Amino acid sequence: MPVITHIEDLRILAKARVPRMFYDYADSGSWTESTYRANSADFQAIKLRQRVAINMENRSTASTMIGQKVAMPVAIAPTGLTGMQCADGEIKAANAAKKFGIPFTLSTMSICSIEDVAKETGGHPFWFQLYVMKDRDFIERLIDRAKAAHCSALVITLDLQILGQRHKDLKNGLSAPPKLTVPNLINMATKVRWGLGMLGTKRHGFGNIIGHVKGVENMGSLSEWTAKQFDPALSWDDVEWIKKRWGGKLIIKGIQDVEDARLAVNSGADAMIVSNHGGRQLDGAPSSISALPAIVDAVGKDIEVHMDGGIRSGQDVLKARALGARGTYIGRAFLYGLGAMGEAGVTKALEIIHKELDLTMAFCGHTHIDNVDKGILLPGTYPT
Ligand code: GLV
Repeated sequence: MPVITHIEDLRILAKARVPRMFYDYADSGSWTESTYRANSADFQAIKLRQRVAINMENRSTASTMIGQKVAMPVAIAPTGLTGMQCADGEIKAANAAKKFGIPFTLSTMSICSIEDVAKETGGHPFWFQLYVMKDRDFIERLIDRAKAAHCSALVITLDLQILGQRHKDLKNGLSAPPKLTVPNLINMATKVRWGLGMLGTKRHGFGNIIGHVKGVENMGSLSEWTAKQFDPALSWDDVEWIKKRWGGKLIIKGIQDVEDARLAVNSGADAMIVSNHGGRQLDGAPSSISALPAIVDAVGKDIEVHMDGGIRSGQDVLKARALGARGTYIGRAFLYGLGAMGEAGVTKALEIIHKELDLTMAFCGHTHIDNVDKGILLPGTYPT
């Protein structure tokens, strides 16, 4: 067993342990993957100011996101097919997040259902991410199910009513459950840990959807499935009725543009997530960290601004926080942990990020995350 000291170690282990089609699904971006790469690369370009001879005792990374206490300003992002990285993946990741004291967001496209996650985490509140499908009765029922499960926030994703093309998914014939073709069987035969886990669970399809939408048994290709089920006509009017029906904390995900940020404020949401969907949708869009400052400038006084995209370390979390993100989300960083080692791997990912965040904050001369601002960044190296 290799010694795991950073997120890259978990990625390498996950790549060895997860069938190619699911590893590739998590790890790729759309088209040329330029936005996917920029998300991480633009973090690297930002430089930190080290301070010395400042008392660094009694540090705390604890803060709040939408008024809820968090052990660090990091939430688990909603990611599709999480339960295909590892058997019962959503339940394992939700339990790791609960123990760590950060929010877990369950995707509409999860393998474990809302009800399963609620039951297996002992009713601990989690966040639910909503994709708006054409079948509005189903959406109403989905919102009601999230309410019944005591979800403490609804995250509406606005940037995936159509799908960015991901070459690897098309080439791999991504589906859930996987089709038992010869190449898939050969590849899965080498993933013993994964296979044994899958034999031990009944959760192999879309838990929130199968049995709840007529005629949907499994997913053909992701692009066909999205084209058939997702509503390309989604608008801010829909956000309004969803907000009314939900009645609780609301987060808008997928904002990159200042004009859209203003519309998100008008929608009455509690927070917005500056996001390009992990570089999986509009390739050629700016990285999330470079889009963040203009949005914080425009609406940061009116609404909580969060961000996701490219976070692979505690340094990245600190930089996002310095540029005005009240909260951040990790997708791939936790999926690598999950694919590598199940719940223990997610816990490991959170511990790694937390330690990096805590130490980097101290190097920058701060003991409390809530006091961190742009002053920790080297002028001229960060986006404005
Ligand atoms: C969302 O479900 C995605 O595949 O990016």
